Amino acid sequence: MKKELNLLLVNGSPRGERSLTRQLASSFMDYWRANGVTGTIKEHDVGRNPPPFVTEDWVAAAFTPPADRTSRMKQALAYSDTAIAELKKADVLVLATPMHNYGLPAATKAWVDQVIRVNETFSFDLGRGDFPIEPKLSGKRMVLLTSAGEFGFEQSGIRAGKNHLHPHVETIAHYLGVSHSWGASIEYQEFVDQRFEKSKARAFSKLPDIFEELLLSYTSTDDATKNSK
Ligand SMILES: Cc1cc2nc3c(=O)[nH]c(=O)nc-3n(C[C@H](O)[C@H](O)[C@H](O)COP(=O)(O)O)c2cc1C
Repeated sequence: MKKELNLLLVNGSPRGERSLTRQLASSFMDYWRANGVTGTIKEHDVGRNPPPFVTEDWVAAAFTPPADRTSRMKQALAYSDTAIAELKKADVLVLATPMHNYGLPAATKAWVDQVIRVNETFSFDLGRGDFPIEPKLSGKRMVLLTSAGEFGFEQSGIRAGKNHLHPHVETIAHYLGVSHSWGASIEYQEFVDQRFEKSKARAFSKLPDIFEELLLSYTSTDDATKNSK
């Protein structure tokens, strides 16, 4: 079983100790640390320190070949460079993020916009016809930990059509180089009733299984993924 894995934890909640997604992430990290996985752990706290938004300077810089970039362009890409380096190094991405207005919080989305960048995390080639974009990274594992105030966001749930968080992350994950993913979600936070307690307990109880399955995913398939980054 593969035990040397670099992990990147992205926390997207603006809340501190009270954040349910931070609590889920922290619990998952307890399993990670307690079970002899070596490798680096990097936390990127975008909830508390929101990334800059993409600007016109940023776009111009991203589309300029590295050798031709001015110092202003390099400055515009500085955050992105660091965030991309963290992602490239990671075998495992733990993305802990609340649902805000039925989708990703702005800070988490800003991180996504900083890391999904032409010639870095994806290539663009019109020779590919109607689908010119392809990810450059592959083989990463993702654990998506979410929390919502309402409920019924699962596929057959009463608010499935309002869930713009999970389908969005699923689409994005491809461009982050994710090949396998797992998730745990808390719902009912705003109801503060028994259903909330049950949902919370269920989400936390999934974490050890996710941890085991994640490690097992390296035994059968691509132990060589470290070289694919
Ligand atoms: C700005 C904001 C927007 C929210 N939008 C939604 C929403 O659209 N749907 C929902 O079910 N809950 C929504 N919530 C509730 C959060 O998803 C819920 O409180 C969740 O537990 C937050 O995660 P955290 O505890 O990790 O911060 C919103 C909360 C905030 C602060």
